[in-house]
Amino acid sequence: MLHKQLAAMTAAASMWSATPAHAMRIQQKPSAQVCQAVPQRMRAARVHMIDTARVLRVDTVPVPTPAAGQVLVRVHAASVNPVDWKLQDEGSLKPLSIPGGDFAGEVVAVGAGVRTLRCGDLVAGTVDQVAQGGSYAEYIVAPLDAIVKKPTTYSMQEAAAYPTVAIAAWRFLIAGANVQRGERVLVHGASGGVGSMVVQIASARGARVIGTASARNHAYVQSLGADSVIDYTTTPFEKVVRNADVVVDAVGGETLARSYGVLRTGGRLVSAGGSVNQAQCAAARIVCPARAPWDVQRGLQFVAPLIAEGKLKVHVDSVYPLSAIMAAQQHSRSGRTRGKVVVSMEAEAVSAAMVPINAYLEGHATGRAAAFERAFADDAMLVGIKDGQYRQWPAHDYVRQSSSGRAPADEALRRRRVESLHVTGKVATAVIALDYPDMIARDHMTLLERNGEWRIVVKAYDAFTPAAPAKQP
Ligand SMILES: NC(=O)c1ccc[n+]([C@@H]2O[C@H](COP(=O)([O-])OP(=O)(O)OC[C@H]3O[C@@H](n4cnc5c(N)ncnc54)[C@H](OP(=O)(O)O)[C@@H]3O)[C@@H](O)[C@H]2O)c1
Repeated sequence: MLHKQLAAMTAAASMWSATPAHAMRIQQKPSAQVCQAVPQRMRAARVHMIDTARVLRVDTVPVPTPAAGQVLVRVHAASVNPVDWKLQDEGSLKPLSIPGGDFAGEVVAVGAGVRTLRCGDLVAGTVDQVAQGGSYAEYIVAPLDAIVKKPTTYSMQEAAAYPTVAIAAWRFLIAGANVQRGERVLVHGASGGVGSMVVQIASARGARVIGTASARNHAYVQSLGADSVIDYTTTPFEKVVRNADVVVDAVGGETLARSYGVLRTGGRLVSAGGSVNQAQCAAARIVCPARAPWDVQRGLQFVAPLIAEGKLKVHVDSVYPLSAIMAAQQHSRSGRTRGKVVVSMEAEAVSAAMVPINAYLEGHATGRAAAFERAFADDAMLVGIKDGQYRQWPAHDYVRQSSSGRAPADEALRRRRVESLHVTGKVATAVIALDYPDMIARDHMTLLERNGEWRIVVKAYDAFTPAAPAKQP
């Protein structure tokens, strides 16, 4: 599966960063301080009506400009929440809107009056996607109240995954139900995005947690801190749970309808998955607190210490490139995800730029000319210093010289490592470390995407022959 491969590559390339954008030109708007080259246009998924169906298509659209009190963020990753596709389906997101709330990335421009965030800050947050452009895009403007500093212990993908579900967990479990140490809490949908946050926060607060999930997720829910897990596909939870202090429902429908009877008198029922019925609450002599207001800052500040202490993990179920956004949403719609579905804005550009880098490494490992030819553009140049001697030469000479047609005899002793890869629009730079018995080198590659294909156009190198070990007398 493409997205699995990309996920694996992205994980393996965790130190790499990329800006999959288009023709770069500095934006100069008097109201905003732009701190690095920002393209004028970006890729973004937008809602389109095809006959009567709403679909998402990746379009090229202008990069938004931050107004006063806003920042422009280069999005590294976004995540899918059920609310995204629910808003699409119900028509709240009109044609040409960009869906998506959650994102993580880097501040690249700040609007007037912004003092608390600076260019280069790594941030995470969630925006009101009905009121403004959403996060299924390479860039997003975000008001300061929708954004926090990225938790340092989270990767970019994890930081994109956690905002909405962490805020929901705070909103229902803490602000709503005010769960206390020692209370018995039943969590419906414990393996989903919201449920997995609720289980961990309740457990960290000293509550005893019972989760519901299908059997394949039981070990996962227990690893989050649940004391026991009910397989909702085989066991009606109301047959097992009585006199619970709190129920947090992240499923809705008949799961919510069957939950009123499992609480003790005065117990609290909150639901992210549906609307509680106050008449049924009164009849069951339980308390159904009003929904606390949506508050990004209070929610994310509440969870920040837990994240810093390693007590709140977010599980990334799968990673999709932006071009596969429909498949990402389809996966979320299945209702069977463990944790979160993430959309990486980097995966495509990074993996495409890695193609010639891998071909170059393959050329070194096999000595095959065909591999080197796939790596270099026809007009590529080499420039560098080997043992203090400067040389500038065309890549086709290098390919001829380096292609023995067979793997080097000492291949087992040769080590190669991609130290970094940065993609900015259609240009990428990579540093490759070569550690061979007869040569130590750093190759600084410049790559270009031309006609949809990435190739190395310049290899600048610093190489030397390691000193031969002194002969023993
Ligand atoms: N109002 C708010 O502030 C707010 C915020 C966030 C989310 N929400 C809502 O809360 C709900 C949950 O969101 P989410 O992001 O957690 O969804 P999600 O991640 O898509 O939920 C998927 C999980 O639900 C589990 N599940 C499905 N049916 C179940 C059942 N009958 N009993 C127990 N578990 C079941 C699945 O487990 P198995 O694979 O094991 O079946 C899966 O792990 C959605 O309706 C969402 O719109 C509301």
